[in-house]
Parts: sequence; structure tokens; C-alpha cells
Amino acid sequence: MSMDIDKINSTFSGASAAEILAWAASLDGVTLSLACSFSPEDIAIIHHIRQAKLDIGVFAIDTGRLHEETYECAERVRTQLDVKIEWYFPQSAAVETLERNKGLYSFRNNVDDRHECCGIRKVEPLNRALSSLDGWITGQRRDQSVTRTELDHVSIDQGHQGILKLNPLASWSEEQLWDFIKSEDLPYNRLHDKDFPSIGCAPCTRAVREGSHPRTGRWWWED
Ligand code: ADX
Ligand code: SF4
Repeated sequence: MSMDIDKINSTFSGASAAEILAWAASLDGVTLSLACSFSPEDIAIIHHIRQAKLDIGVFAIDTGRLHEETYECAERVRTQLDVKIEWYFPQSAAVETLERNKGLYSFRNNVDDRHECCGIRKVEPLNRALSSLDGWITGQRRDQSVTRTELDHVSIDQGHQGILKLNPLASWSEEQLWDFIKSEDLPYNRLHDKDFPSIGCAPCTRAVREGSHPRTGRWWWED
């Protein structure tokens, strides 16, 4: 895709999520979809997409190990927001081999085994979902982690065939996000009311103490 990404980002530096999404949806012949983990960020983006009736799809990866509360949230999003969710599931043969050879909690053994599980349950389905897209959208924000402080609104995803990657909420704060969710009366994962700020797979996510960094509840045993 030939685009002056730096110029686009400087144009969009103060732009709203709605403006960024509308611009992306207006690109000719560009098939776009939101990668949705049913985080409040993702749900805020779905709301924007619906309000402006943008031609942007929604896909989600069911790793097979999500919390019951995440599945319930997904159903509320599907029915209350009337959105079709393109679910992706890991390859059954790969999961069967992993579970037969290494059991159900191999990700706790060491970092390599954790990457193996994420590779089978998340990365392969994600790559499959992205292979038919020209661009994808995530709910990532700069203040979520030290690795996201430089996050741009728009980038070229070299790791995925050079497709577009949009992070329309990159500059949103946590407070701004929750104000939006509450003021628009949007559904959200009930685990957020139980001290789970960042939610992934059930066995790899736990509640965090008030004041701790939100990401400390993810893969905590590796720290
Ligand atoms: S993770 O890499 O640490 O798991 P995180 O939970 O912060 O990611 O989510 C960041 C963004 O990645 C989400 O806003 C969403 O766009 C995408 N994402 C994460 N998990 C999934 C999933 N299971 N299905 C689809 N998209 C996902
Ligand atoms: Fe496996 Fe945990 Fe990664 Fe989920 S987050 S795919 S359970 S290692």
C-alpha cells in the first residue's frame, strides 16, 4: 500500500476516533475489520462504526480458553449492538496435539511453551483472519503499556503482508474510555467490575490490586 504514513499521522494527531475510522472506511477497495477481544476499547470502536454506518467488519478469536464473562459480553455485544462477529477458532489438530503431548497448562512451563500455546490459539487464527484483509483495527492505547507509548493512529503492518493497521483510540486515556462506555450505556465485560483491568485468556489473566499497573494481571508468573 503506498501512502505517506507520517503525513497521515500528523494530519490525524488531534483527530477523533470517528474521523480516523471514517477516513479509513472511505479508502477505495480497502477491506477493513476490527480485531475484537470485547475490551471496552473494542466496544467503543464498534459503537463508532455502527453510529456512522461504516463498512468495517468485526472479527474475534475464540482461543478456547476465554472467561465465561467474555463469552457473555460477546453475546451482549452481538445482540444489543446488532453486530455480526466473524469468529475464528484455532486449528483443532494443533490444539489436540498440544494438549495430548503437553497437557492443559503447558504455558506455565516456560516462556517458549507459552509462546507455543499463543502461537496455536491466537497467532495462527489472527494470521488467517488478516490474510483476507487490507487493513485491521485494534483497540490499543498508548497508556496501556510501556511497549505502546509510541503507538501511531495509522501504520503499515510489516508483520502482516504490509496491510494497514489502525489504532483509532491510541491517544485515549483510560478515564476518557470509561466515561464514553458509561455515557453511551455500552455493554462491557463484567470482569472489569472485579478488578480485572486487562483481560485475555482465563488461565493467563488475574485480578490486580488497586493502583497496580493494569498489565500486571497478564502472564504474571513470568515476572
Ligand atoms: S494482547 O496481545 O495483550 O493479548 P490486548 O489484550 O492488549 O492484546 O488487546 C489489544 C488489542 O488486540 C485488542 O483491542 C484487540 O483489538 C486485539 N485482540 C486481543 N485479543 C483478541 C482476540 N481474542 N480476538 C481478536 N482480537 C484480539
Ligand atoms: Fe494460551 Fe495463555 Fe496464550 Fe491464551 S494467553 S493462548 S491460554 S498461553
